[in-house]
Amino acid sequence: MKLLILNGPSLNMLGVREPEIYGNNTYFDLCKLIEAHAAEIGAEVEIRQTNHEGVLVDWIQEARGCFDGIILNPAAYTHTSVALLDALLAVQIPTVEVHISDPMRREAFRRISYVREACIETIAGKGLNGYLEAIDFLCGQEKIQ
Ligand code: DQA
Repeated sequence: MKLLILNGPSLNMLGVREPEIYGNNTYFDLCKLIEAHAAEIGAEVEIRQTNHEGVLVDWIQEARGCFDGIILNPAAYTHTSVALLDALLAVQIPTVEVHISDPMRREAFRRISYVREACIETIAGKGLNGYLEAIDFLCGQEKIQ
């Protein structure tokens, strides 16, 4: 199973940005954690981060025919981006939405997720482990099909 893991704006600042919300682990730590878990269960992962909405749209479109699943933490674009929703609807690749924090328990403006309706699962509030859960979920889906 080949998974594309996409991270939106300021997730490269993990460890520095609001540690009381996102924890002390860095983006590098997150990548190492994901890679170790993927290796353990025999999944192939490619992890990317960008601060630019259009780049995320390009990566989602380019994933068509190349990846079996997408794990997407759109960060702030979760709450604003119809463009990301449309890209996901266009490619029809099984996608899991991940958030390190639980946006439903934060400010009201974070309670809307535009991408959610194009995702087969949302995992939020589980810290970095949410990414590992998302990998397991997508690998489990593969066995069902
Ligand atoms: C986030 C939650 C978003 O509301 C926020 O804008 C982020 C990170 C999370 O992983 O908890 O940048 O997606």
